Amino acid sequence: MAIVLISLILAAFIALYFYLAQNNKYWQNRGVFCADGALPGVGHMLSVISMKINFHECCSKIYHNNRGRSMVGFYNFMSPSLMVLEPELVKTVLQTNFTSFHRNAQKIDPDTDPLLSKHPFFSYGDKWLVGRKRLTYSFSSKKLKILLESVKSVCVMLEDYLDNKLSKTGKVQLELKDLFSKYTTQVAAAAGFGVDGFCFDEEKADVSFRKIGKKILEPSIRNTMMLISVIFVPLLNKILKISIIPKDIDNFFRTLVKDLMEERRKEEIPRNDFLDLMAKLERIEGDKFDLEMLTSNVITFFIDSYGTSSTAMSFIGFQLASHPKVQEKLRKEVMTVLDKYDGAITYEGLKEMTYMDQVINESLRLQPVLPSMIKSCTEEFELRGSDGLVCRVQPETEILIPVQGLHKDSRYWKNPEVFDPERFSPDRKHSIEKFAFLPFSEGPRACVGMRMALLLMKVGFAAILRKYNLELSSKTQIPLKLIPESVLPAAKGGVWVFFRQL
Ligand code: HEM
Repeated sequence: MAIVLISLILAAFIALYFYLAQNNKYWQNRGVFCADGALPGVGHMLSVISMKINFHECCSKIYHNNRGRSMVGFYNFMSPSLMVLEPELVKTVLQTNFTSFHRNAQKIDPDTDPLLSKHPFFSYGDKWLVGRKRLTYSFSSKKLKILLESVKSVCVMLEDYLDNKLSKTGKVQLELKDLFSKYTTQVAAAAGFGVDGFCFDEEKADVSFRKIGKKILEPSIRNTMMLISVIFVPLLNKILKISIIPKDIDNFFRTLVKDLMEERRKEEIPRNDFLDLMAKLERIEGDKFDLEMLTSNVITFFIDSYGTSSTAMSFIGFQLASHPKVQEKLRKEVMTVLDKYDGAITYEGLKEMTYMDQVINESLRLQPVLPSMIKSCTEEFELRGSDGLVCRVQPETEILIPVQGLHKDSRYWKNPEVFDPERFSPDRKHSIEKFAFLPFSEGPRACVGMRMALLLMKVGFAAILRKYNLELSSKTQIPLKLIPESVLPAAKGGVWVFFRQL
């Protein structure tokens, strides 16, 4: 009896091993070198699921260990994925042969997350086109000038908040991710639907939009489970059914958009927000927008304005506080431009702040907000590397774009670890290798909100630099380490900076 039982257990283990290892020769069989360290079942993800490093750091490691190659295979758990390492191949995937790679690999179950499943990043076909079209319409120069007014009103609140903190001691220590999340969430509420998000009002923390943002994107046990199951093991989420947007927030946005849109349809008083632009577009197109799609567009505006931009701003603020000379040079530019426009922040003035663009670009190079992107092959396609490697990519294969790896490759960047905004100066920026710098991606799926993101970041830094000096606090852990379980890059222990009135 005991022998039968032992034999059965042994057979079960062997069967499990063969099941988990079934794909482990996928790349070897195709003549593509596979990154070292794959294990049955988890592939190259052991250090990620054990929270030693995050997924992006894992990709950067694979990139650097295989720098001389054009492509390298790796296993995202049991899925064979292909990392393309050459800018020319990145171009093929993102731009030249977009039709074969037009989908992002991350999938959202429309039953679990109905609103997010219509976000352009997660959608394709008609849904993708509608979402993109509405956002593109909102971010033309003319419309951005309208949204700028809302962003400026938030800067006044930001300044009041800082002045209030500084009134007692003249110097205050603040955590940048928290501060900039308050700012970008307040912008998302004001420029999204013209409401007060109460982000700078500590007494109203309970009803603040900041609470909503935290619930969706910031590290928590729920969000870690969500990240693993939705992004990395979608099959697991078929059972767990964890939604990225929690049910109460889903309901909150549906009610808010329904109520506000009814008001906007009745009265035609112009306002400076995204919802108003949608009401105008509805009138132009002559048909009422489907409410679920519209709520999804608003959520896209909200999540993207808040999450990505606050992440980028916290790392830019870190660089400014760590490099006083760069900060001073940027302050001079801000003051000169503001003087030219009688102290006002204007759309034209922001365009003239070109050193600000250099600083933003260089910070995004060192710490991109999306340090790697995963595309899905939709039609069989032959990729040819400059080293002679040919790979016939099959539909459903994941293609990894190692953004962070390319951003720090010494073949494209001299002293890649050094923060040097001069790389993006007018006389040097033309020599930057195309497709080796991808903070907003490239091709038809490139970030549709780039202009909005640059606008809100530039306005925020112009408002801060004209009044305050930033100085790095010893509370910041140097070198910065990232929190492995965070959805977007976030520094362990936070980025702490002293603000002093000038
Ligand atoms: C510093 C801030 C931001 C950064 C670094 C950033 C970066 C990116 C990147 C790298 C992508 C992926 C593109 C791809 O899949 O190839 C993306 C997509 C997207 N971004 Fe942004 N983004 C920022 C802010 C914003 C803002 C403010 C909005 C809108 C309000 C926005 C809306 C979107 C949308 C809708 C997509 C999906 C586009 C598509 O798949 O067609 N982003 N962004």
